[in-house]
Amino acid sequence: MNVAAGAADVAGATEPAGAADSIGAVVYFSSASGNTTRFVKNCRLDDLGINAYRIPLRANEPALAVREPYVLIVPTYGGGDARKAVPIQVKRFLNDPDNRSWIRGVIASGNTNFGEAYAAAGRIVSAKCQVPLLFTFELMGTAEDVDKTREGLARFFAGANA
Ligand SMILES: Cc1cc2nc3c(=O)[nH]c(=O)nc-3n(C[C@H](O)[C@H](O)[C@H](O)COP(=O)(O)O)c2cc1C
Repeated sequence: MNVAAGAADVAGATEPAGAADSIGAVVYFSSASGNTTRFVKNCRLDDLGINAYRIPLRANEPALAVREPYVLIVPTYGGGDARKAVPIQVKRFLNDPDNRSWIRGVIASGNTNFGEAYAAAGRIVSAKCQVPLLFTFELMGTAEDVDKTREGLARFFAGANA
């Protein structure tokens, strides 16, 4: 199992580099098409002191364990089928009660061509995990989406840490 920075807080062991100075974290999933990865990279979270962790794409990769407050960024799949809107990899990650206990908000992406199902994964995760849906964006996001997300995350974690 891949234990992300912040896990050391729980274990009481030496804290990995990056965890001490961070204001929060983003956990994201991105399929082979990589739109969400591009969006997250464009957000330059490192500069804001926000750690970024990617949920593995393939089942044979080590599972991700996160033990610090995070906002989930999730693309929507399923083509309108609500049962498949949240990618299976994200469901698996959130089914771990320890991972789930640290989620503080969700940002969802999608494609408005899917109409009512646009960014449905965000509404589903928000309801299931009882956290706010903070923002939605299309595909890899626009420059404006990136700016809004950077500002929003900085404000969100500043409030959470106040
Ligand atoms: C098979 C498939 C199904 C999709 N279903 C939806 C959907 O139901 N609602 C939506 O808003 N977007 C849907 N999308 C669009 C994706 O959410 C969008 O392309 C996203 O940017 C993919 O992110 P990724 O490249 O990081 O995996 C779908 C895309 C694919 C390929």
